[in-house]
Amino acid sequence: MTQTDAGSIESVLKEDRVFEPAANFSESVGGAYINSLDQYHQLHKQSIEDPQGFWATIAEELDWSTKWSKVLEWNLPDAKWFVGGKTNICHNCIDRQINSGHGDQLALIWEGEPMPEGKPEVRNFSYNDLKREVCKFANVLKDQGVTKGDIVTIYMGMVPELTIAMLACARIGAVHSIIFGGFSAQAIVDRVVDANSKTIITCDGGYRRGKVVPLKDNVDDACTQLADSGHDLKSVIVLKRCENNINWTEGRDHWWDELVGNASDNCDCEPMDSEDMLFLLYTSGSTGKPKGIVHTTGGYMVYTYLTSKYVFNLVPNTDQVFWCTADIGWVTGHSYIVYGILPNRVPTLMYEGAPNFPAEDRFWDIVSRHKVTQFYTAPTAIRAFMKWGSEHPAKHDLSSLKLLGTVGEPINPEAWMWYRKMIGGERCPIVDTWWQTETGGHMITPLPGATPTVPGSCTLPFFGVDAAIVNDRGEEQPANVGGLLVIRKPWPAMLRGIYGDRERFIDTYFSRIKGMYFAGDGARRDERGYFWIMGRVDDVINVSGHRLGTMEVESALVSHEAVVEAAVVGMPHEIKGTGIAAFCTLEPHHVPNSDDEVAKLKEILRAHVGKEIGAIAKPDVIRFTDALPKTRSGKIMRRLLRDIASGSEDKTQDTSTLEDLSVLEKLRESEEG
Ligand code: PRX
Repeated sequence: MTQTDAGSIESVLKEDRVFEPAANFSESVGGAYINSLDQYHQLHKQSIEDPQGFWATIAEELDWSTKWSKVLEWNLPDAKWFVGGKTNICHNCIDRQINSGHGDQLALIWEGEPMPEGKPEVRNFSYNDLKREVCKFANVLKDQGVTKGDIVTIYMGMVPELTIAMLACARIGAVHSIIFGGFSAQAIVDRVVDANSKTIITCDGGYRRGKVVPLKDNVDDACTQLADSGHDLKSVIVLKRCENNINWTEGRDHWWDELVGNASDNCDCEPMDSEDMLFLLYTSGSTGKPKGIVHTTGGYMVYTYLTSKYVFNLVPNTDQVFWCTADIGWVTGHSYIVYGILPNRVPTLMYEGAPNFPAEDRFWDIVSRHKVTQFYTAPTAIRAFMKWGSEHPAKHDLSSLKLLGTVGEPINPEAWMWYRKMIGGERCPIVDTWWQTETGGHMITPLPGATPTVPGSCTLPFFGVDAAIVNDRGEEQPANVGGLLVIRKPWPAMLRGIYGDRERFIDTYFSRIKGMYFAGDGARRDERGYFWIMGRVDDVINVSGHRLGTMEVESALVSHEAVVEAAVVGMPHEIKGTGIAAFCTLEPHHVPNSDDEVAKLKEILRAHVGKEIGAIAKPDVIRFTDALPKTRSGKIMRRLLRDIASGSEDKTQDTSTLEDLSVLEKLRESEEG
């Protein structure tokens, strides 16, 4: 992909294979909701022309304690959906199913990672079970002084109590801010401070690839830093999971089990205004610290419900079991393990650990044992499966699968074809869903019974989504000309802001193209109207489907005493899609004198970044350099570094603004290590 100044982007990908929806798909899922492309186009048109009518009909499928007076109020960039309506998403996930007589049905299936004697621990929760556990924990939170609107930080492994904790927050109107368990203490500090959160829920440890991740230790580290900075944290609630040794601070720390033991299992749902905050989720941007994306109640609930229903074709009272392999610490887990799936009354499966524990066939073992019908994962995982070999899925009966999904980054056609053949047995449609933390739910995606799919394309906009490819002036681009991906109309699950930073919200999303939401991605549309995502056009890199700001990694590197300046860029990576390349200039006393010392310092810096941000941010390649290529005004010329890192250097690139050409020469000559 090359980017020109006008924001138009050339695409080099060409793909002609088209896969029509299988004739028997509808029958295999107990009836497809959308059965033809015509039906899709007709409904899409209606949803764009009359969004209020379209979304009101959908919202009526869910319970509201007070009906809205108006479906949409739109004053760019502020959207209000279901204005005046009151509801509770926890009610719609759980109580609504119980009230309609389905309390005994399976709501949540959980499987732990360890396999003592070859057997995993499995816990099943019916809607009644879930309600009991959620109510108890909701009462615990109340006892701890948590009230409506308070922000509760959750930093746990993938245990059922994580789902219970988030639903308990939603039930009492507290806002959750979930931090992925792979992040470090520093990440906890930043988020707790930004949200001014007083309560942290964690685990003693979390299982990951046979090892214990010391979650409570990380929280303790964070608490020390928080105390030093005068932050007043009230309590830390600790779930016992791994029984690893932990430190304990009397008065602040409480065992989950002890608190829950005495709690009543009765707790009414707090009626929430449609626009009351439901959760905060921090994500990386191109500048500064991660931003707290604000999602509210009603619109998010309706949108995740409908996208789950139509994109995964969830049908209650069938044998469906839905499995999304994401961690709940990311938006995918929020929307498609919990909030979108439970209201559709199809059991949602949650797996605790790694795909290669105890062996590379773990996912397929899970699919066959639980008879998973819809399976949703990420391209980076698919590429890892391919590398591990087709013999692993081949060992298992995957015939229960009816639909496959992917999310997080563009999927290369080769991985798409492998997925279709080796996992889907050439019978399952693949939904390649493009969306973002900010969008709350799927935005561009095939509908499995209607949309012919082409490997590598996320195809067509979902209902109510007015997506377009424009140039920097906001003019729509012709077919096959790359440009900026924008959304021109509000949709129910759109972010409502960046927590505490109105200016950054407007700057980031609504300033580059006047009057439109700019997603940060480059894309093109082909002659069919299908969208092809070409990747980020800002300084955000997408590593294994997870967003990292280059700035964040650079700050982590320069926070080490050896590094004076750092520039971080993305580079192609076989499994991760994009890897991280870091160019660092060193403080003179730390310049290594031998190959051994070079290798050692690189390892130290990688570990340092891991500690500052988390393991996913560790650079794949570090290069030491005397200087970084800069413009005369001092801006680092990242595009040159990107080319050097990817080895696809175009010697004809314009370097006329480069201040010192010898810097580039030296970098070209230096060996990558
Ligand atoms: O670049 C796009 C990529 O992931 C970014 C959003 O990242 P995040 O907010 O972490 O959410 C990931 C899960 C929803 C997007 O800006 N992306 C996501 N899905 C796709 C994708 N790129 C191509 N195809 C997709 N299906």
